[in-house]
Amino acid sequence: MRKLKTAILISGRGSNMMALVDAARDPAFRAEIVCVVSNRADAKGLAFATENGIATEVIDHKGFPTREAFETALDSYLRSCGIEIIALAGFMRVLTAGFIARWEGRMLNIHPSLLPAYKGLHTHERALADGATRHGCTVHLVTPELDGGPILLQAQVPVLAEDTADTLSARVLEQEHKLYPQALALLAARLSKEDTP
Ligand code: GRF
Repeated sequence: MRKLKTAILISGRGSNMMALVDAARDPAFRAEIVCVVSNRADAKGLAFATENGIATEVIDHKGFPTREAFETALDSYLRSCGIEIIALAGFMRVLTAGFIARWEGRMLNIHPSLLPAYKGLHTHERALADGATRHGCTVHLVTPELDGGPILLQAQVPVLAEDTADTLSARVLEQEHKLYPQALALLAARLSKEDTP
């Protein structure tokens, strides 16, 4: 079985990245985590990746004059690693349509809501403010429409009467850590039947 070379892009804590790295230890997992890239040098998740023997790269967007220049550097690094799949995991930069087109069908994102509900930020606060009774997370393919690409998998959680944004987000995050590895495995299985880019 061929494992598809995967990069995980983070900006902070990296708990979803950790879940993907842990899942990929399974010899039967169809993706290999080749590198973890952050646009912030202070991203907490970088230490975990290093401790787990995964290459890390900081490409600080602030060091580039334009979004496109940043993305050109990012794209070159990913190509130099032979990357076939990108998993966005709390990566807090909006990517341009040009970059997204170059990775069409090969870039995943995890979003903390049951899309198409609550695209964008502060999803837990908005679900609570609306009195939603169910909430959850979604893994989708990335397209130029923010949080709008084809959905691969979703997981649902109940919203409890006593929930705060913190308790609800913790309940959703627990599901994210299960859902993201399943979705990556699914995409890798699909792509392994196709040609490499
Ligand atoms: C997660 O809630 C994810 O759904 C969202 O950003 C958060 C990242 O958390 N896109 P972590 O860095 O993976 O812990």
